[in-house]
Amino acid sequence: MENIKQTKSDVFNLLSWYHKTGRTLPWRSYWPLLTPAYHVFLSEFMLQQTGVKTVIPYFEYFLERWPTIQLLADAPVDDVTSAWAGLGYYARARNMHKSAQIISNAGGVFPQSIAELTKLPGIGPYTAGAITAFAFDAPSVVIDGNIERIVARYFYIKTSLPALKSELPSFYKKMIPEKCRSDFPQALMDLGNEICTPFSPTCGRCPLSTGCKSAKKANPALLPIKPIKNNKIIRKGQIFVIRKKEKNNYKFLVYRRNTHGLLGGLLAFPSQGWDDKEQNYDENWRPCNLNWTALKPKIKHVFSHFKTEVQVFLADTEETDKIFIKHKFQNFQGQEKEMFENHRWVTEDELHLPKLMQKALKLAKNYN
Ligand code: ADE
Repeated sequence: MENIKQTKSDVFNLLSWYHKTGRTLPWRSYWPLLTPAYHVFLSEFMLQQTGVKTVIPYFEYFLERWPTIQLLADAPVDDVTSAWAGLGYYARARNMHKSAQIISNAGGVFPQSIAELTKLPGIGPYTAGAITAFAFDAPSVVIDGNIERIVARYFYIKTSLPALKSELPSFYKKMIPEKCRSDFPQALMDLGNEICTPFSPTCGRCPLSTGCKSAKKANPALLPIKPIKNNKIIRKGQIFVIRKKEKNNYKFLVYRRNTHGLLGGLLAFPSQGWDDKEQNYDENWRPCNLNWTALKPKIKHVFSHFKTEVQVFLADTEETDKIFIKHKFQNFQGQEKEMFENHRWVTEDELHLPKLMQKALKLAKNYN
C-alpha cells in the first residue's frame, strides 16, 4: 500500500482501538463531544510535569472550587498555590493564574489560535496545541513525550533528541485524521501509555503496527535516541521541623516562603541549603535553641534541574508564640532570618505542603 494510504488506515485503526479501550478521564470527551477549553487549560497545566493519576483529584478539586475561568482569575494567588501543593513546579500554578486573569480580563473567551494562546504565560506550543485540538477540534500539532516516541518509531526517525523535536511536527502532520481530530492526540497518549511504552513495546497488539517501520526491526524500543545524560547535581540541605503539643494534637511551625524562587509563596518548614545553588550554608546553624534530633534516613527529592539530599531535624517545644518570636533566629552570617517574620503554628490538617516538605513531615511523624 502507498505510504500515505497505509498511514491513514493505521490511524483509522488507532482511533477504533481508542474508541473501544480509551481511558475515562475527568477532562476527556470523545468526539463529537469536545472538552470545554477551561477544563483542557486546567488539566494541561497540571499535567505538564505530573502524572495522570496524581492530577485527577487536583483537577476535580480545582473545578469544584473554581468552576469557571473568571472565578479562578478572581481567586487570591496564594489560595491557588496552596491548592496546588503536592503537584510540584509551582511556577505553573502562578502562570496558570496569570493566564486565567488575562483571559478573564479579555471577556473570559478562550483564544482559539496557537499564536494567541502561546502569548499567555506558561502556555507553549504543546499546551496551545492541546487546547485547540481537544476543545476546538483543530488539526493542531500536539507532541508530548509519549507522542514523540510513537512518531519517531512509526516513521523510524533516527535523529537523536533534542534535535529530533524540530523534525517531528512535519511527520506528525502526515498522521492527523480528517475526523476525530480531538481524539487523535489522546489516542496516541493512551497508546504510548499502554502499548508503545518506552522499554518494552508490545507491537503485536499495536493498531499502528502494519505501517510502523520500527515494528519490523529487531528492537523497536531503540528509538527515540536519547542524548547522553547529564547527571543532575546533588544539593545538600537541612529542614527543621518544630512541633508543640496542644490538646493531644501537634502543631508545626511553618512560614510562607518568599514569592520568588523555589517553592515560592508556599508554606514550608524552616530550611537551608537545598534552595541555594552555591551551597553556601552552615551545617551547624539551627533556627533556634532547642533539643534537636537528626532523623534518619536523609530524604531525597528531585527538582527539574537538581537533586537534593536533605537531613531533617526534629525538635519539640512548649514555648508560646511571643517568646518564640523573641528568639533572634540567626543565620550563619549573624543576621536575623527574615523567614520567621510571618511564621505560624498549624495542625497537620491545615498543612498544604509541597512534596519536599511533605517528605520531611512524614519522617518526623514516624519518629516518636
Ligand atoms: N497528558 C496530557 N494530556 C492528557 C490527556 N488529555 N490524556 C491523557 N494524558 C494526558
